[in-house]
Amino acid sequence: MNTALPLDPIETASRDELAALQLERLKWTLKHAYENSTVYRRKFDEAGVHPEELKTLADLARFPFTTKADLRDNYPFGMFAVPQERISRIHASSGTTGKPTVVGYTARDIDTWANLVARSIRAAGARRGDKVHISYGYGLFTGGLGAHYGAERAGLTVIPFGGGQTEKQVQLIQDFKPDIIMVTPSYMLSIADELERQGVDPASSSLRIGIFGAEPWTNDMRRAIEARMGIDALDIYGLSEVIGPGVACECVETKDGPTIWEDHFYPEIIDPLTGEVLPDGEFGELVFTSLTKEALPIICYRTRDLTRLLPGTARTMRRMEKITGRSDDMMIVRGVNVFPTQIEELLLKQPALAPHYQIVLTKEGPLDVMTLNVEPCPESQADDAALASAKAALAYDIKALIGVTAIVNVLQINGIERSVGKAKRIVDKRSS
Ligand code: DLL
Repeated sequence: MNTALPLDPIETASRDELAALQLERLKWTLKHAYENSTVYRRKFDEAGVHPEELKTLADLARFPFTTKADLRDNYPFGMFAVPQERISRIHASSGTTGKPTVVGYTARDIDTWANLVARSIRAAGARRGDKVHISYGYGLFTGGLGAHYGAERAGLTVIPFGGGQTEKQVQLIQDFKPDIIMVTPSYMLSIADELERQGVDPASSSLRIGIFGAEPWTNDMRRAIEARMGIDALDIYGLSEVIGPGVACECVETKDGPTIWEDHFYPEIIDPLTGEVLPDGEFGELVFTSLTKEALPIICYRTRDLTRLLPGTARTMRRMEKITGRSDDMMIVRGVNVFPTQIEELLLKQPALAPHYQIVLTKEGPLDVMTLNVEPCPESQADDAALASAKAALAYDIKALIGVTAIVNVLQINGIERSVGKAKRIVDKRSS
């Protein structure tokens, strides 16, 4: 019989035990970074701080931030803190512009990462004997291999499909009957569409759990996917610079925002404008410091992700609220700040429309124009009148609740280009 998998002892440790471990590990990390990375040594010296000055966790606020620009400036391996012969793997994340951000792992880092993704998969409700279908891309992206090593470490059966070939994915889901799927939420929708196209009710598939991340998705999207697929949908968070997927993951018993695996990553929230550290509960930019990483210790890394820290519920470790957006994804449309997730929430209130969407920004003279491309929902079989009223209602909600005017365009089914990984929500044609 399938049984639940046991927790790591630290997951049930007291806050005091956790804080003591964090402090000890943080001291090690700062010393390691200072002694073994010329970049960190220079940054600390310039800021006039020394690892020995850190006496409490709060003292971390005195240390300088690390940004994507630091990694780019030291491309490809300039920030590594171990000799090259100790690097056992390289990953990279492709930004929208310029060179990719390159990250490295020692054998111990890979081991830590596998343990944390395994912990995430257990938190999501995995049971002994489960089969895990992985649709995150394999390769330099951390999603595929990160999920793969974690699922293997959890002792589960791994189906390493990777991204793309949607028709074949669906065939194998039918044949292999996986219990868990790990995929971006937007690509999950494409898989669900393909199941339907092949005449299969998505809710009748063998899947019990979906572990979704790598892009922002709302709680409304969670409810829509859960209802359509008949699964529990859990949020897994991570970023290459910090380790990859498995920095934080939701627990199935609460589904209230990812629990941060605080024994390995120390979170802070800062005011994105002033850099000041904010108390738990306040919204701002998420900043992480790794506590055990050898190859690429990351100190006060500005993620650009906007959220807040919340007290633990299913675990003693703190949670982060589901990410509402990245500061990079914030659109300024005629002076109003808009995130794609705000649009997503309103779109999901319209049953006649599918949850696929893309926002196109253009200029009309000096003015910004926002066009929202959407599609009819095939199941709803809405007629033209129903689609017209859904379109009008959506445009009305966007104006009333977000404060911007959007031209809502209902395209044909499949009119929006599908991504097999992270969805491209914004096409900004204003500066080109
Ligand atoms: O996306 C790692 C990952 C793979 C996470 C698979 C989860 C699942 P990067 O390509 O470096 O790494 O992109 C990191 O993606 O800073 C967030 O902006 C966004 N992101 C990742 N997970 C979530 C999530 C991977 N659960 C960037 N919710 C991060 C919202 C997410 N955004």
